[in-house]
Amino acid sequence: GAATRDRLRIAIQKSGRLAEPARKLLAACGLSWRESRDKLFCYGESLPVDLLLVRDDDIPGLIADGVCDLGVVGRNELDEQAGARAQVGLPQAYRELRGLGFGQCRLMLAVPEDWDWTGPAQLRGRGLRIATSYPSILSRWLQEQQIDAQVVELSGSVEIAPRLGTAELICDLVSSGATLKANQLKPVETLLESEAVLAGPVGGFDDARAALAQMLLRRMDGVLQVRE
Ligand code: PRP
Ligand code: ZN
Ligand code: MG
Repeated sequence: GAATRDRLRIAIQKSGRLAEPARKLLAACGLSWRESRDKLFCYGESLPVDLLLVRDDDIPGLIADGVCDLGVVGRNELDEQAGARAQVGLPQAYRELRGLGFGQCRLMLAVPEDWDWTGPAQLRGRGLRIATSYPSILSRWLQEQQIDAQVVELSGSVEIAPRLGTAELICDLVSSGATLKANQLKPVETLLESEAVLAGPVGGFDDARAALAQMLLRRMDGVLQVRE
């Protein structure tokens, strides 16, 4: 979207692992907002920078459509949706501007605890089903590994698929590992190292937002450097 705006709009997760650290980071950059935290839109007070509180999965699309200018989102979500866009011939619309050093997790292949894992080659020629919310990243990996498994796309509760019999293994985010453990699964291969990132449009801005984004990035670099 090429709409002109004189305020910068940043999408962050409404609730979930990235929500609070994203707010804290932006506050540490000198931003403050008028609305309370349960509102979906927070009007910037100290600077013309507003927040939109949304589902993390919606953030790449909001940037692609120009509804938001920047977003704090997991690299996993950004890469997945970039892959999905490429698969249907859409141009890349956003890119990772900064790694933010929080929300670290891995996108991993996990198998039932009682499997003897010897490596990806073990999966070849067995007609296995893999449940995931990351079909694009998983398909790319399967292709690289020359594995002919079937990808079963689920939007959530991926970890119960093996117990339900809808898939033999899963590919999902692992942070503490507690979810896998509770479901008698074990992580065996890492497909992606993820963390929260600041995402922005491929093209940048050609109005007042350019200077705002530049200032925000400069402040963010300062904050991230001190945190290291
Ligand atoms: C991920 C993943 C698991 C959980 C794993 O979901 O889908 O549910 O985290 O974490 P653990 O290893 O610490 O148990 P996430 O919190 O990212 O939420 P989402 O799937 O709704 O985006
Ligand atoms: Zn999500
Ligand atoms: Mg989850």
